[in-house]
This record gives sequence, structure tokens and C-alpha cells, in this order.
Amino acid sequence: MEVVASAPAKVILLGEHFVVYGEPAIVLAIDKRAYAKISKREDKKLHIRSANLNLSGYFEDGSFKIEQGEAKEARMKFDPVKNAVESVLQKREEKVGLNVEINSTVPVGAGLGSSAAVVAATTAATAELLEVKLSKEEIFRIAFEAEKIVHGTPSGIDPAISTFGGTLLFQMDTGFKALDAKTQIPLVVGDTGVQRSTRVQVEKVRSLVDKYPRIAEAMMKMAREIVLRAIEALKEDDLETLGTLMNMNQALLCGLGVSEESLEWLTSAGRKAGALGAKLTGAGGGGCMIALTQEERIQQVMEAIQRAGGRAFLARKTDEGVRIESA
Ligand code: PMV
Repeated sequence: MEVVASAPAKVILLGEHFVVYGEPAIVLAIDKRAYAKISKREDKKLHIRSANLNLSGYFEDGSFKIEQGEAKEARMKFDPVKNAVESVLQKREEKVGLNVEINSTVPVGAGLGSSAAVVAATTAATAELLEVKLSKEEIFRIAFEAEKIVHGTPSGIDPAISTFGGTLLFQMDTGFKALDAKTQIPLVVGDTGVQRSTRVQVEKVRSLVDKYPRIAEAMMKMAREIVLRAIEALKEDDLETLGTLMNMNQALLCGLGVSEESLEWLTSAGRKAGALGAKLTGAGGGGCMIALTQEERIQQVMEAIQRAGGRAFLARKTDEGVRIESA
């Protein structure tokens, strides 16, 4: 018997970086999903294979053996998966060996939450296979703990959106709140292909904030107002306002020093081709940008982003969080 579960990737629509300082951010689940297929083994190994990353290996008695790819990279990717599987196994008496096969359509390391989607899908599939009942809240908790292994002190935004789906307002002190977003929010995502580290970008912002506290404070206030206004725009299905707010948010992120050349090229290409607004998404310094685009302009905007050197794809918001695909 085998079980397949999936969970969505995400984009931060507004508020990244400022969220680290307590301001609100808006995050959407998108229709790119990570899939985890789990089956039992005869032995006690935990075997993990990622088809997209060409990595495979297994954990046995506390040690890891690589089969395909580079061991260090495999550990980085597989440790959270192992941790999540073990959290589910702990809820059962017997120890069982498992095969975990990961398939994902989400670009990795680009700020789209691929690792959280993989971990949430693995948690749900393992629980289903082993007949362990887990609420969504419990899946979120397990995925969040597993994510902490590689990310240090993440805000929890990625495992939350991968588990619950939809559109969430997130703020450090109050947590998550589902947002009422009637509108479709069609987004063209442009991947710069430039690798970056969230940690480095967050540190860069920290030193700027420390050096110019009063200016930073004013920028924080602006970021907050942008998000608050966007909540209204989402309710009213007002995409034009949302686009303008995204452009304003991009200007602030640029001021923080986290936009970079390739992101600038792609955002301006998207706007010139008729997007209502465009900005980087996630940590910046590379990774992805998003362009809010009316249906009739989608093709044009995608082509413009490709011409400017990005890999473009269309992302639509999805209300579906983690789910069992087949059992
Ligand atoms: O890791 P990313 O690219 O999804 O970006 C995280 C968003 C930040 O606000 C930059 C950091 C955070 O912990 O919220």
C-alpha cells in the first residue's frame, strides 16, 4: 500500500522583511505543489528519494548513507523530512521502515516555500499510511518544528500556508488570520535563477535598520499602511489598487537594499508589458519576483519576463492546503 499527499507552495504578496520587525504580511498559497509518496519497507530504513533533485539515500540506526547526489546537500534537504516522519512515528508503538518519494513542481531555494510544502506533504502522507489521525494544526506544528532544523528561527509563514492554503495575514505577535480574498489574483512569477540566502538578506536589512533607526521606523510604518490598504483592496476585488501597492512595496524593499539587478530587470519588464504591479517576493537578492497581471495580458507579461532573462510561469492562488491525493 502507498499513500500520496501534496501541499502548495507560496508567494509573499506584500510585507516581507518588514514582517521580521512585527509588521503584517500577506501570503498566498499557489497552484504549484510538492508531492510525497510513502510506502512501507520490509526493513527498518527510512529511504528518501527526490526525483527532481536527483538525490537519494537512507537513514538507518542514526546514520545516513548517500546513494545518489552529494551527501551534504542531501542531508540539508532530507533532515527536515526525516524529522517530520519521526514525529509521526512517535505517535505509534512499533518502528517501521518507510520509502519517501518526493516529486515537486516548485523551484527550489527561490523563496516559494518548496521545503515547507515537501515537509507538510510528507507529514500528511505518513500519518495517513500509518493510520495516525492528525489535525491540520498538528501537521502545521510538525512541519514547523522540522523546518526549524534548516532555517534556524523561521517565522512559520511557510509551513502555515502549505498546510492551510488560501490567503493569510501574518503578524509575529498575533499569528495567522485567513483573509477574505474574492479576487483571483493572477500572478506571473519570474525566477531570476540567482541563488540567494534568506539569512544573508535578513542580516543585511538588520544592519541598515540598526544604522538608520528613525528612517527605518518611517519605512516600517509605510509598509504597514500598504498591507492594511491591500486588505481592503482584496475584499473589494480591486486589482488596480493592489498593483499600485505592490509597486510601492517594491520601492521600500529596494530602499532596504534587498532588490538586485536581475529583480529590477524583471519587475520593470513586467510593468512595461502591462502588469498592474510587480515586486520581488520573499527574501530578495535574487530568487523570484511576481507581477500582478490581468488575464488578457498574461502572455505578454510572461514573454517580457522571459526576454529579460527570467523563467516565467503563471501562478494562481489556491485555497487547498495539504491534502491526500491517493491512498
Ligand atoms: O525565505 P523566503 O524567500 O520566503 O523569505 C522569507 C521572508 C522574510 O520576511 C525575508 C524572512 C522571514 O522570516 O519572514
